[in-house]
Amino acid sequence: MNLNAILHGDCLEILRTIPDNSVDMTFADPPFNLNKKYNSYSDRRSLDTYLFWCKQWLTEMVRITKPTGSIFVHNIPKWLTYYASFLNEIADFKHWISWDAMSTPLGKSLMPTHYGILFYAKDRKLNKFYEVRHPHKRCRKCNVLLKDYGGKKAGLHPFGPLLSDVWTDLHRIKHAKNRDAHPCQLPETILERLILMTTDERDIILDPFNGTGTTVIAAKRLGRKYIGIELDKQYVAIAEEKLRNVRPDSHIEGVWVSKYLNGIATIRDKDWDVLQSHFDIPNPIPLLEYKNIVYKNGKIHKHTHIMDKTENLLVLSFDDVMFVER
Ligand SMILES: C[S@@+](CC[C@H](N)C(=O)[O-])C[C@H]1O[C@@H](n2cnc3c(N)ncnc32)[C@H](O)[C@@H]1O
Repeated sequence: MNLNAILHGDCLEILRTIPDNSVDMTFADPPFNLNKKYNSYSDRRSLDTYLFWCKQWLTEMVRITKPTGSIFVHNIPKWLTYYASFLNEIADFKHWISWDAMSTPLGKSLMPTHYGILFYAKDRKLNKFYEVRHPHKRCRKCNVLLKDYGGKKAGLHPFGPLLSDVWTDLHRIKHAKNRDAHPCQLPETILERLILMTTDERDIILDPFNGTGTTVIAAKRLGRKYIGIELDKQYVAIAEEKLRNVRPDSHIEGVWVSKYLNGIATIRDKDWDVLQSHFDIPNPIPLLEYKNIVYKNGKIHKHTHIMDKTENLLVLSFDDVMFVER
């Protein structure tokens, strides 16, 4: 198998050359049949043609995934309903992850602002899975925890809660300067999270719709092996160029984490014992309600200021003042 490479060509043809049970994780972000302007691919097919084609590559993804492995498919809910009814026959359903990508509603109908990521195990009993944590969500202005933990604050995890199947903390790529010449590039933090959840160092990750390389970049950065497949030569070239500058360096003291700007977007729960010595943690723990933990080599959030009864009252909103006065 050609590892650590982006293969130029049709994913169906290439997938058929890959042995059964040989890949630890497969992730697909196929064209959504929404008439998007890709270089080579025409994103407008009849319902039957599109679904027949999807069934073929989904079958291949499941076939090549190891019994311990995971299969992920990202799409709009409409197509995922078809995928799920098909995948239920050949793999074990684990989750429908809802990723709130925060778009602006345009009217006429309900704007689909969440995407789904189907998560299937090749075999539920053998599936490799690690619980992951993400940073506590805080008020942008006053830094107070958004979730009310009531009387349970002493039990808060210093880094943040375990992840649920609704993801609201990872943003689409908003700024043009961060985008490639591609209509639907995913943020790397999504892929890094899925990779941390289901694979180990040196495991093999395959993406049959590589685009400009989000999956392979995340895999390389996290010390995994990868195979990307992409129909369009220009997208392959962009991905290869970006990949050249990526190092397997997204770790703290040898523990793989997903970094984002100055912060950390995802850690594995089991790694906290090692990671915690790298953070200044508020003491006692209930102080977490308004005070961040701080990564000693940088900041874990953009908002690291400590809110107390004397600080910044002038810039606070009415709600924030209510908090300060409490
Ligand atoms: C939604 S995009 C994937 C974007 C990718 N996740 C990223 O973040 O860059 C779908 C990609 O599939 C490619 N594609 C379409 N049909 C293909 C096929 N039969 N084999 C391989 N790639 C294909 C398109 O060129 C496009 O780049």
